[in-house]
Amino acid sequence: MRVLMVCLGNICRSPLAEGILKHKVHQRGLQWQVDSAGTGAWHVGEQPDPRSIDVAQRFGIDITDQRARQFDPQDFERFDLILAMDRQILRQLQQMATHPEHRRKIRLLLDVVHPGQGQEVPDPYYGGSEGFEKVFRLIETACDRLLAEYGPQ
Ligand code: 4NP
Repeated sequence: MRVLMVCLGNICRSPLAEGILKHKVHQRGLQWQVDSAGTGAWHVGEQPDPRSIDVAQRFGIDITDQRARQFDPQDFERFDLILAMDRQILRQLQQMATHPEHRRKIRLLLDVVHPGQGQEVPDPYYGGSEGFEKVFRLIETACDRLLAEYGPQ
């Protein structure tokens, strides 16, 4: 499996999602490719937000080597599953997908936990650090379900 996590800035939510899924994939000895990107370009080249780095560190995950990049339409070919953190990102990705087989790769991350409910990983950028812990927990639950759904049976 090749999985791409996508948020707006690629500095808060999707770097956590990349780090958490990579950690779980490694623990299980799987060969998945995991990456993340943002639909916006404001933070390209930057490290994850310090609050994301901190919360990941508290759970034993190092995300300091990540650098933000913008989603590239080529990613529709490079990945099997493209997971949007919220409905705005889902819509942006769907608008960029020109082929039906590309559209089928796009899914709302929390849809794997609560199918069809449209639940979102809230943007924690303008809040305090407690928002980042909530985001971490939401993503962690989703990654467990992702591995159960797409991993080896
Ligand atoms: P992210 O959070 O999409 O989870 O990385 C954000 C980071 C930066 C901005 C918005 C959301 N921004 O507007 O700069």
